[in-house]
Amino acid sequence: MNKDQSKIVNLPAGRQGRKSKFKRYTVTAALPYANGPLHIGHLAGAYLPADIYARYLRLKGEDVLFVCGSDEHGAAITLRAKKDGVSPKEIVDKYHHLNKKSFEDFGIDFDIFHRTSSELHHKTAADFFKVLNDKDEFVRKTTEQYYDEEHQQFLADRYITGTCPKCDYGNAYGDQCEKCGSSLSPKELINPKSALSGNQPVLKETKHWYLPMDKYERWLKEWIIDGHKDDWKPNVFGQCKSWIEGGLKQRAMTRDLDWGVKVPLEGAEGKVLYVWLDAPIGYISATKQWAADNDKNWEDYWKDNDTKLVHFIGKDNIVFHCIIFPILLKAHGGFILPDNVPANEFLNLEGDKFSTSRNWAVWLNEYLDDFPDKQDVLRYVLCANAPETKDNDFTWRDFQARNNNELVANLGNFVNRVITLVHKFYDGKMPDGSEKDTVEDTKLLDKIMDAYDYVEQHLENYEFRAAQSEAMNLARIGNKYLADNEPWKLIKTDKKRTGAILNNSLQIAAHLSILLAPFLPSTSNKIAGLLNLNKSKLSWDAEDVLLKSGHQINKAELLFAKIEDWEIETQIEKLQKAKEKAQSISNI
Ligand code: MF3
Ligand code: ZN
Repeated sequence: MNKDQSKIVNLPAGRQGRKSKFKRYTVTAALPYANGPLHIGHLAGAYLPADIYARYLRLKGEDVLFVCGSDEHGAAITLRAKKDGVSPKEIVDKYHHLNKKSFEDFGIDFDIFHRTSSELHHKTAADFFKVLNDKDEFVRKTTEQYYDEEHQQFLADRYITGTCPKCDYGNAYGDQCEKCGSSLSPKELINPKSALSGNQPVLKETKHWYLPMDKYERWLKEWIIDGHKDDWKPNVFGQCKSWIEGGLKQRAMTRDLDWGVKVPLEGAEGKVLYVWLDAPIGYISATKQWAADNDKNWEDYWKDNDTKLVHFIGKDNIVFHCIIFPILLKAHGGFILPDNVPANEFLNLEGDKFSTSRNWAVWLNEYLDDFPDKQDVLRYVLCANAPETKDNDFTWRDFQARNNNELVANLGNFVNRVITLVHKFYDGKMPDGSEKDTVEDTKLLDKIMDAYDYVEQHLENYEFRAAQSEAMNLARIGNKYLADNEPWKLIKTDKKRTGAILNNSLQIAAHLSILLAPFLPSTSNKIAGLLNLNKSKLSWDAEDVLLKSGHQINKAELLFAKIEDWEIETQIEKLQKAKEKAQSISNI
């Protein structure tokens, strides 16, 4: 645990708890492009860890704002619209609603899911740009760029294809070759072609507003390389360091396009803000909308040094969140900077990269068609396999194994056993716990309280896999406690002691509903419901005794069901078929 992020204080219940030194938290998750549905790789990369973190903070009673929304501008949207033969507006409307619903279905509990096509966002982004322009933060430059004469339009990098100068691949994009991975600029392409008309584009002069990032190199060195060496993840820190040390260039902050936030200056007709300038400002406009709806002050969440700002993203977004957006915030003035950017690496699927064009993905909406009540199972498996330090793999076999061996056999089994035993021997009433005098009982209570500390330390360090595993470990401890004490036998000889054992076991089940709440929210609710647990008790700083003697609990219900081989085989076949279909289409 990073010592200066928290201090040890005594909580009323007597356990050692950590109170944050921050007054409030602004937690953001990357705004997904509204150009297609979300798959499980998206969930694993940014949204699930962000949601776990936000839920944990809320359980601790912290003031936390969790924002996200649709990224509705940029070539990602207009290309998709062109491909489908519809307007960009139709595309973003469709996927904004679809993705918003997927997040809700998986319990990703944003305080607001906004959109960058909103009027409030356009105004916020345009005003932000104006401030920078008034402060002379931009350099205006005229350069030659590719232009499609037939469509009378300048071509964004993604709108130009041609032969890669590095590997000869014939279908490289103006910004990148997907075959060899080189990043390119449009002028490097051999035989460039316009994606709009198929014609060879011509070079034409155009004026743009550039951000001189080189001016901020020294500051970035101090802030990131000197300041965050120890608390940013090595994968994030390493990428930043190599960008900064490689030397930063001027980057155009405007584009010749008609889809986006209009550049709010005279003489800039037909130009919009660069999507990577506009999109992160979406976090701010989302906050403004939420504040207006909830009678809050948005500036508290963006301009107060006592606010901790954390960006959850995938690794392809690191440079934008760690370098470009902070430069913009700093140049504007008055804003706080991210305290951390815990970016994940990528998740693969059955050993292969997710790919929309090859249809190699598990789409969130389709998962729910096949497993309508298994949101928490997916959350569990994705967190257990989170690509925290390196790329990682999702396989259906592992999904099945974790469900059957961990959720069913460990957690579900424990909760079910305790509840059943309490009904069998004590009519569903919490037995008297006064006979808790053994050393083992004291140790057990310590273990429960320790679990909070372990989970908390890992979450504060953005180690979500380890945190979830520590929470689940308490169920393992509970199962072992039952197996060691065999209350179903002991009841025949020592009813009092049996009561104490079941009392302890039920307390464990109640604590599991709190400890697991950030990870498995609907399971946690179910456990609390079965135990008839008062919602006001569900706090991270819970007392050790959550249920009083005589407290009535509800009848046992299974928390998880076994997943059979055929269910998994169906999924694997479905993937194979999708891939074959995609291949046969691309062969035509
Ligand atoms: N839409 C981008 C992506 O999917 C992420 C935008 S994050 C934000 O890669 F900061 F710009 F909002
Ligand atoms: Zn190449």
